[in-house]
Amino acid sequence: MAEGKTKVAVLVSGGGTNLQALIDKVAGGELDNVEIVRVISSREDAFALERAGRAGIATAVAKEQQDVLRELKESGAEIVVLAGYMKVLSPEVIAAYRDRIINIHPSLIPKFCGKGFYGKRVHRAVLEAGEKESGATVHYVDEGVDTGRIIIQEKVPVLDGDTPDTLAARVLEVEHEILARGLKRAIDDLKEGDR
Ligand code: GRF
Repeated sequence: MAEGKTKVAVLVSGGGTNLQALIDKVAGGELDNVEIVRVISSREDAFALERAGRAGIATAVAKEQQDVLRELKESGAEIVVLAGYMKVLSPEVIAAYRDRIINIHPSLIPKFCGKGFYGKRVHRAVLEAGEKESGATVHYVDEGVDTGRIIIQEKVPVLDGDTPDTLAARVLEVEHEILARGLKRAIDDLKEGDR
């Protein structure tokens, strides 16, 4: 039992590189006030589950939102991080963790976000629009899609000759940095609110 640490659950659906960044920063001390208590995946074949297992973190597969809610409550999580999570949370989950759920999105919200903007589709749209910059955003999750209050954003340049893959890789590096910083701010907000 990690006394005094903020308990964090991470929801995933895919490769889990954002989860891995959090795991590494907890182990490396940058997130020394965090305990990742559970990784919950919408898919049983998500490599993120493998990453969690290697780090000794409890995992669960939950396809239905009532199962996500049960797992979150059982885990004792105080903050929920969506890290490559591809489902829309139910109003019940959002209500149960109001202002305590954060998401990482691979664009500069409010640009290129909302329904249908995920993964490579985001970067393809940025390139098709002729943007000179892109980036990533950490934001609170509310009932909308990518509409909650922004916590932190960081920009990357769009370079001549960029493809959706090269742009995705540049944005992903920034995601891995700002997710941890966004989580720290959410923990500070949580503690402010508890005062
Ligand atoms: C990332 O681009 C993230 O922004 C998006 O899903 C992609 C994959 O994330 N939400 P991960 O490697 O599974 O963390």
